[in-house]
Formats: sequence, C-alpha cells, structure tokens
Amino acid sequence: MLTLALHSRLPLVWVTSTDPLNDTEVIRYLAETEGLNEIGISIPTDKDPKNSLLTDILDYDVMIHLGSIENYSLRDLYDAADSHQVTLVVVNRGDAICPAGFFDAGHLKAPSAMMREFLQSLVPDSYLSEVTDALKGLDMKDVQQVTQLTSARDGSLTARGIMSTRKIFINSIQGLSLESTNIPFYNPHEKLEKWIALNKKPFLYSQIPSLVPKGILMNGDAGTGKSLGAKHIADSLGVSLLRLDLGALMSKWLGEAESNMTRALAMVEECSPCVLLLDEVEKVFSSSEDSGSTTRMMGQLLWWLQEKPSRVLVVMTTNDQDKIPPELYRKGRIDTTMTIEGLTKKEATDFFSSLLGWYKDQGLKVPTVGRMLTLATTYNNVKTVSPADLTQLVEDELKTLNF
Ligand SMILES: Nc1ncnc2c1ncn2[C@@H]1O[C@H](COP(=O)(O)OP(=O)(O)OP(=O)(O)O)[C@@H](O)[C@H]1O
Ligand SMILES: [Mg+2]
Repeated sequence: MLTLALHSRLPLVWVTSTDPLNDTEVIRYLAETEGLNEIGISIPTDKDPKNSLLTDILDYDVMIHLGSIENYSLRDLYDAADSHQVTLVVVNRGDAICPAGFFDAGHLKAPSAMMREFLQSLVPDSYLSEVTDALKGLDMKDVQQVTQLTSARDGSLTARGIMSTRKIFINSIQGLSLESTNIPFYNPHEKLEKWIALNKKPFLYSQIPSLVPKGILMNGDAGTGKSLGAKHIADSLGVSLLRLDLGALMSKWLGEAESNMTRALAMVEECSPCVLLLDEVEKVFSSSEDSGSTTRMMGQLLWWLQEKPSRVLVVMTTNDQDKIPPELYRKGRIDTTMTIEGLTKKEATDFFSSLLGWYKDQGLKVPTVGRMLTLATTYNNVKTVSPADLTQLVEDELKTLNF
C-alpha cells in the first residue's frame, strides 16, 4: 500500500508501525525503489517550533514524520506537501486513528526485496523464495525475530520451520489463536461437502476476485457440528484455521477494542490463505447490544468483510441467527447461510455405525448400532438429536464395555 502511495506521489500518507527500530529504513527503501532519493526525517521535540516541518518539507521528495501532527493544520500540511510535490509520510507508532485527509497505507510490512537481501546470507538460493514467502506480511523486526528463533530451534531455516514459529506470534495477538485442524473422526455433512467441493478451487486459485468465496454463516442448535465444520473446511482446503474471539477484543479503554480488531485483522490477512472462525457471533453482536465499542467494531468488521482483498474465508457460527444483525451476513460479505440440523433417527443409524466403526479400528470393544438406537431415548420426544449428544451416548457405553 505504501509503495502505491509513494508511486502516486500522494501528498499526505499515514502508516502504522509496530517496528520503531526499522520503520524509517523500510520507508527509505521503498521510496528509493520508486526513485525518490531525497528523504528527510522530522522528529518533533518540545523545543521544535511549530512550523519547522512546514519549511523543512520543501527540500525533499519524501518527508518521514515520526510523531504527532496535532499541532499542524491539515490545510497547511496539504498545501506545503502538494505545492512542492513532496510526500509526507506520518508514522503512527501507537494506536492513533488515521486523520481525515490522509491516505491510510495500513501497517508497514517488510518489503519482499528487503527480506531477500536480509536472508541471502542465511538461506541457500534454492530455498530463498520459499522462505521469503513464509515470512510474507511480517514487519522487519518480526522477520528478524522469527528467523533467529527458527534457526536457534532447528539449526536451519526452512519454510516449514518458519511457519511453526509464526504460530507463536499469532497467539500473541489479543483475541486471535491458531487452531488445530486435526479431527480424529468426522461424519461428513452433505450440504457442507457440496459447498466445499464447489468452492475449494476458486478459493485457492481464482484470479477473478468475484469468484473467490468470502465466507459462510452456519446456523444451528448447540452440538450440531458448526465449530467442527469450520475445522473441517480448513482441513479440506489445506489451509490454517485462525479463530478470532470477538469478546476478548473488548476493552474498558476507549478506542482499544477497535485497535485490537485492526491488529487482529491485519495478522489474519498476513496468514492468507486461511480460514477465519468467528464463533458464536450472536454473543457479541446481538442486535440489542448498543455499546459504542461494539458498534464501531461491527463497523470495522463489516467494512473488512466487504473489502478484504485477501484469500481469507470467514466462517461465522451462531445458535440463533435472529439475534444477529442481517448486514453481517448479507451477500457481498459472505456467500451463503447454512442451517446445520441435528440428525434424524435414520441419520443417527449411519452416524452410530461410522463412529462405532472408528472406535473398533482403535481396538475397542463396541456396542451394536441397534443397542445405541435403543439407548437414544431422546428420539421418543424429538425428531432430531445433535451429533454431540449421540457421541456422548457412545462414549459412555464404550467406557462401560472397555474399562
Ligand atoms: N459431523 C460430525 N462428525 C463427528 N462428530 C461430530 C460432528 N458434528 C458434531 N460432532 C460432535 O459434537 C461435538 C460438538 O460439535 P461442535 O462443537 O462443532 O458443535 P457446535 O455446533 O459448534 O455447538 P455449539 O453451538 O454448542 O458451539 C463435537 O466435539 C463432536 O464430538
Ligand atoms: Mg461451537
């Protein structure tokens, strides 16, 4: 994004950095790549007269401003930058919000070419592209730390080693976690299997954005297999599964929930292609909830769902679709809403049979399907029962038979 802003010679650009040690070097590198070689740095101090930025700016192609701009008027900054064809890049090293009039270039990441230069002496040429790809989306500080941690642990640098180190970084972002996609036993769900079969290739390979699936909302009673379904989707697509706990983003500090959300979504994009699970969305976004923070977080999420350019498949789950605002799941934000039902008695027969077969393969003594169906007395009162309840019945019976 910053490259584009520099290339277009935009006058006022805002960039967010979590890497104060390297950010000016990275901006300088990007500017020089664009042929902008006169680069100034302005660091406001208490003694600095208010207007020095406005006069200093005139000597440069790019002025990097490390600090607040609250003492300057937007009009003065714009006029100074625009009239001398200077790009003023304000580096936000905290949680400030991009001021009106500035182009928001997002988080400052390590440019691939700069990473390659850094990695050249550490990685054999034949691995260089693979390793650079595995580091994609990190800032320079994280690139250095991830490579250092990986070599210390593995004694070498490989793309696989780097990915496993990055997991630790994902889990350090508040509310975000990397989930395992390993499911010992999964009973396929017909509608979901059809959806995956239709969408797998477009998600992974389509170059036409409108054909890249954006997401799915799974609605259904407790224990019907929604969260497990999200794991299964990620596993079938062969990508990682990240889980964003929206409740954990909330904070008593003004504005912090929103910046937590920004950080988490930026990390999610870095991990693309991936599946992002927003589990039990009604708990945070029930229509009756009207706290300011929740409303703003919702706004951020809606914008991101609509605009995200990356291959991130969002899987939302809810027990009660009526409780969530419809704009969260309208077309353009996600592709489809799927109701996951419990199993009828007929379906339960197949479910028991596969599950018991699986346990038998593990070397356990198993009951017959008929025995399980007689134990499933809930069917006397209701038409469908959740796989979670059926699994529980099987597990109890296995304990009796085997221990
Ligand atoms: N398709 C399935 N195949 C095998 N087991 C399943 C399946 N669906 C559900 N289960 C069993 O039910 C349990 C609960 O599933 P899951 O956590 O996905 O339910 P959920 O719909 O997300 O429920 P909740 O609404 O309470 O979060 C699983 O741990 C698993 O034992
Ligand atoms: Mg669940």
